[in-house]
Amino acid sequence: MTPTAPHSSGFGHDSTATEVLQGIDLHGRFAVVTGGSSGLGLEMTRSLAAAGADVLVPARRPQAARAALGDLASVAPLDLTDLPAVRRFAQDLLDRGRGIDILINGAGIMTAPRTIVGPGWEAHLAVHHLAPYLLTNQLLPVISAGARVVGLSSSAHFLSDIRWDDPHFRRTTDYDQWTAYGQSKTAVALFALGLDARLTERGAHAFAVHPGSILTPLQREIPTAEQHRLGWIDDHGRPPAGFKSVEQGAATAVWAATAALLEEHGGAYCQDCDVARPATTDDMLVGGAKPWVIDRDAAERLWDLTTRAVTGLT
Ligand SMILES: NC(=O)c1ccc[n+]([C@@H]2O[C@H](COP(=O)([O-])OP(=O)(O)OC[C@H]3O[C@@H](n4cnc5c(N)ncnc54)[C@H](OP(=O)(O)O)[C@@H]3O)[C@@H](O)[C@H]2O)c1
Repeated sequence: MTPTAPHSSGFGHDSTATEVLQGIDLHGRFAVVTGGSSGLGLEMTRSLAAAGADVLVPARRPQAARAALGDLASVAPLDLTDLPAVRRFAQDLLDRGRGIDILINGAGIMTAPRTIVGPGWEAHLAVHHLAPYLLTNQLLPVISAGARVVGLSSSAHFLSDIRWDDPHFRRTTDYDQWTAYGQSKTAVALFALGLDARLTERGAHAFAVHPGSILTPLQREIPTAEQHRLGWIDDHGRPPAGFKSVEQGAATAVWAATAALLEEHGGAYCQDCDVARPATTDDMLVGGAKPWVIDRDAAERLWDLTTRAVTGLT
């Protein structure tokens, strides 16, 4: 197990991305933010750019991304369900040769109906883990010394460990959209652990982040009545206490991407701008880290499984 030892970062649940980056100069730094043109990612892009970083946003709808971003960031087309496109995108960046200081794997989908992409991969696992695994590993030659790789996990990891015997729900009657989402967010956290072990020698680190609960376009698949039943919106369509604003929801990821305090805690699962505590409840709004997302053996097992899955794909 990796330690879950919170420090006093000086930031917390209500901190915003702008506050976290106050006094941090990112001029001359290059950041790649998948999902960086919507919801939390858009705020991450905005705050990183405001701190001086050059930001590149790979987007599956590049026109919409350009409209959302204006001159905040450059945009390149990339659909993470298209694995040959992931390789091409990575090769373009390798050819460009510019070192990447921050890579945020933020793109996400939530509770989609059962969808199979690429070579038979369940879509949540593909977008949240398999494609980021491929993208990150392809980009390793240009990951700078001192770089940070941050994955957007979620307290939804509470819902599922890795389904080791059937990660892609080949037993179709087992498919449950929450389980699929939850499993993929467990994978994000384990990937950070496995990746960090491989980045340390180049002085770079990987982290996973639960951003909090925030209303964004992510909930588009969930009907309003269901969101009401889940307690995500009240009778006026407003989120309940405990939810964050988008500015607050972007904070932990940009904190993990920049905080010197985390240097000795590579691979950590973070929440509320700190290393998360072990979960003591099943309440996802409270969060914390369940044992299966901080298990180094499981991280290595997933690394092997994923390596086998992507090896030989063109
Ligand atoms: N909001 C929350 O409460 C919450 C809680 C925990 C974790 N998270 C995680 O935080 C991350 C950001 O979520 P958000 O709330 O900001 O959601 P969002 O506003 O829906 O943003 C998700 C982004 O991912 C992009 N994306 C989805 N599938 C893609 C694909 N196949 N290829 C390339 N890009 C793709 C989307 O592109 P389009 O614009 O084209 O759709 C969008 O830009 C997600 O990983 C999510 O799971 C969010």
